[in-house]
Amino acid sequence: MIAIGSDHGGYALKQEIMAHLDKRGLAYRDYGTYSEASCDYPVYAKAVAKAVAGGECERGILICGTGIGVSITANKQPGIRCALCGDCFSAQATREHNDANVLALGARVVGPGLALMIVDTFLDTPFSNDQRHVRRISQIEG
Ligand code: RB5
Repeated sequence: MIAIGSDHGGYALKQEIMAHLDKRGLAYRDYGTYSEASCDYPVYAKAVAKAVAGGECERGILICGTGIGVSITANKQPGIRCALCGDCFSAQATREHNDANVLALGARVVGPGLALMIVDTFLDTPFSNDQRHVRRISQIEG
């Protein structure tokens, strides 16, 4: 299960991503926001981060205007490794090296075509499980 959420700035891109997940047959839960009315990104970033940290969902996708606010917020939750990606190389590397469990996107930064490629890369790339990466991840918290 994928947790997805956005503020108003990411709402339109979130709709495109959910349609894409539907096409791929991937299950997701939409944690809001549910319209383009102005709202506060921490509300939705926290909901998605808690769903992933609590084990309700395996991965999360967060979208706001820049991707910055949601990524800062998500990374405050213990157990969350949220990566703000604007390219596929970063999305692949953060899965392989950081075992990132939440992807943040900036809807005012990347176009929908690139965003969907980043989403696919993030969802389809496994963690490398290399010992050095396992060790470094274990050093992130605490
Ligand atoms: C909303 O205008 C904007 O501040 C928000 O979407 C996000 O970019 C914050 O980091």
